[in-house]
Amino acid sequence: MEYEATKVNVSITLCILGLIDTDTAMKATAGIYTAQASPKEECALEIIKGGALRQDEVYYDSSILTSLLLRNPGRKIMEFLSLKRYNMERFINN
Ligand SMILES: *[C@@H]1O[C@H](CO)[C@@H](O)[C@H](O)[C@H]1NC(C)=O
Repeated sequence: MEYEATKVNVSITLCILGLIDTDTAMKATAGIYTAQASPKEECALEIIKGGALRQDEVYYDSSILTSLLLRNPGRKIMEFLSLKRYNMERFINN
């Protein structure tokens, strides 16, 4: 939000991922967590696409339902409301 307010042209993509079938994740969750793991190659592509397209957020999970539940529709509203509290003149000149 601060970069946007100060016209710094940078994009930040928040990636919220489900269980991905990397060796580390598979070892760490074996026998503990039973969710279907998503393919790492497809996950990597989604992350790259999200960054290249300057998306605010990327949600990636094999379950469509989980992907939908992970979304945070209130965030944009909160950002808009909090930005209104800045004194932009002072913020930009400092
Ligand atoms: C911001 O950077 C992107 C990627 O380099 C570019 O496509 C876009 O035109 C830039 N926007 C502004 C307002 O400079």
